[in-house]
Amino acid sequence: MDLSSAMPNKNSSGLYIVLISVHGLIRGDNLELGRDADNGGQIKYLVELAKNLGQHPEVDRVDLLTRQVFDAKIADDYSQPMEQISDNCQIIRIPCGPKRYLRKEVLWPHLDAFADRALKHIRSVGRAPDVVHGHYADAGFVGAQLASILGVPLFFTGHSLGRDKLQRLRENGMRDETIDKQYNIWQRIEAEEYTLDLAATVITSTQQEVDEQYQLYDNYQPERMVVIPPGVELDRFHPPGRRKIQAQIKNDVERFLQQPKKPMILALARADRRKNVRNLVIAYAQNPELQEKANLVLIIGNRDDVEGWEKDSIQVFQEVLMLIDHYDLYGRVAYPKQHAPDDVPLLYQLAAKRKGVFINPALTEPFGLTIIEAAASSLPVIATQNGGPVEIIKNCRNGLLFDPENVDDISNKLTDAFSDSGQLRRWAKNGLAGAHRYYSWSGHAQHYIKTLNKLFKTQHKRPLHQFNRSRLPTIDRLLICDIDNTLIGDGASLKRLLDRIHQSDEHIGLGVATGRHLSSAQQAMQEWEVPHLDFIISSVGTEIHYGPQSVFDGGWARLIEYRWNAEEIRFALKSLAGLRLQPRSEQRPFKVSYFIDPHQAPSPKEIKRFLRQHDLHVNVVYSHGSFLDVLPMRASKGSAVRYIADKWGIPFEKILVAGDSGNDIDMLRGDTLGVVVGNHTPEVKRLRGRPRIYFAEAEFAQGIIEGIDHYDFLGRGRTPDDDEVSDLMVSQNLLLANI
Ligand code: GLC
Ligand code: MG
Repeated sequence: MDLSSAMPNKNSSGLYIVLISVHGLIRGDNLELGRDADNGGQIKYLVELAKNLGQHPEVDRVDLLTRQVFDAKIADDYSQPMEQISDNCQIIRIPCGPKRYLRKEVLWPHLDAFADRALKHIRSVGRAPDVVHGHYADAGFVGAQLASILGVPLFFTGHSLGRDKLQRLRENGMRDETIDKQYNIWQRIEAEEYTLDLAATVITSTQQEVDEQYQLYDNYQPERMVVIPPGVELDRFHPPGRRKIQAQIKNDVERFLQQPKKPMILALARADRRKNVRNLVIAYAQNPELQEKANLVLIIGNRDDVEGWEKDSIQVFQEVLMLIDHYDLYGRVAYPKQHAPDDVPLLYQLAAKRKGVFINPALTEPFGLTIIEAAASSLPVIATQNGGPVEIIKNCRNGLLFDPENVDDISNKLTDAFSDSGQLRRWAKNGLAGAHRYYSWSGHAQHYIKTLNKLFKTQHKRPLHQFNRSRLPTIDRLLICDIDNTLIGDGASLKRLLDRIHQSDEHIGLGVATGRHLSSAQQAMQEWEVPHLDFIISSVGTEIHYGPQSVFDGGWARLIEYRWNAEEIRFALKSLAGLRLQPRSEQRPFKVSYFIDPHQAPSPKEIKRFLRQHDLHVNVVYSHGSFLDVLPMRASKGSAVRYIADKWGIPFEKILVAGDSGNDIDMLRGDTLGVVVGNHTPEVKRLRGRPRIYFAEAEFAQGIIEGIDHYDFLGRGRTPDDDEVSDLMVSQNLLLANI
């Protein structure tokens, strides 16, 4: 058995990083930024992060997982399952839910499917990642599932947070009900809490996010948070050259202005109330001295058709037009109708050439990427004192902060800026240096990898964060055994079996499927000295846990809970003779278990029919002539095995299952390779002669060994042809013989 994948990086020299960002539209270039609320800064951030991590010398491979979308209304690019964006870095598109493009608020029901498919992708890579990094609540949720199942650390970046949004919407007077209806906000907050609980490290862009936004969460653990600001694309944003700027956008600006050569106050923001362009216009309007010195240039969204905008945005835009008219600012304020993404660097350069400033008047600005872009273009900055700009200006020393709600303050700081040209020149220089020093993507990647390495080094000090890498991504076959009277019962043969598995060169996964509950199964494994299990299917298939940390498979629980009502089942069965509830410890969320006296009680079939008549749709499993388990319709050991096979993408003919009694029957049937040990109970006899079920002579674990040899399971494998089955047996219509 190969255990090397349990250790970080033994198989390959470098790190393998999985980034996840579910919503929006991501491709290698030509991002559709601003297309809708789901295509903001986050998608840009991810593409840059992925590329730059890929370039780090310690990194082998970066996969950026996002949702695959087939939609006539959007480009075909987003339907490609894979897009290489650099040598060792690719976008992997994973289908989930409907094929069409969906907004993030409605993706929640499809995230389990995303996680399962992501696991399959990771299996196809054949190696567990060194870190899984979820972005935003939805991918945080997916990442948390993957990381815990894979036993690797989880990184999380919220980008923006539900509790913060909830607070703001409430302040605006929106009712909770409306908020939830529109934004599915509680689902989001739940996902964030869950992710924050599991994250080994939370990466934020500013300290303010940590102190003010993450602080709102129950699972606030600032010691796990690291501030790594995003970078700016330094090859796109740079100071103007000596040459004259010649571009359409320049004409589009200048046609508004009486004296276009005057310095320029440049603002760049969506028409959104929170961007607070209104106070900027008033501040400018009330300051004639400032108007003498500088023009005001407002880049507030592309206006193909303002009618198509959201109501709020239209209002913001109308207000700006009315203010310009009211204060008669014609000839001093420009607000071009259109600008292309490539115009943005030119606008900063134009403002820099004109010895102007960039202004960000937002009520709060979570990060302030535009401010760094301006800095990198050697354009001084005057910015809001709420949020990210505080740290940027502290680092770069390239301008002033103001209180965005105080019009006089905005006006004074602008006057101040234009009163000292030496100071303006210094700010321009400092900003350029600061952007390179603090805000390069390569610097971000370096800090990121350092954080990850530190985590690996110190994990032993944090008991909650010891990563036990799952072997499941690397195994190529799977042995699943029932515990009682199959795996255990005879110590000597069990030892022989474990030795065989251990000595094999193949990558064999080992799991058990049992009627016992989890802790009882674990106890048995300890007593019988069965070492490492990749998973435990317990309580007759109703629960699945992975690895040494017993990570619960919530996806399985969600799948089986359909139509399940344990209380009503117990109530209905009270009236039947011959049934006695098993002890409390055997009753599980998805398992109601009885002792059955077959002489007094109706047959299992009749019991099932009886429950159906009470509109209770269940699975009934009879074992050892004395146990009766009532389970959700979709649950059994067999369906749990098939779920695992599907989740991990392991073909059935590479799975060997072994059992001895009634609750093993449905896992023995089907396309997996079945082995019935010699000491089986009478219920199992009827499987004789069925395809792919081998009845061993030998008992207990020796029977499993015999089965392994029969199928040459540890060698090249021998899948029996289905026509080996005797005609006699097939004719007995055993397909329906569950109970
Ligand atoms: C195990 C369980 C018991 C169950 C039986 C048959 O003995 O402890 O609750 O009824 O298996 O599945
Ligand atoms: Mg058994």
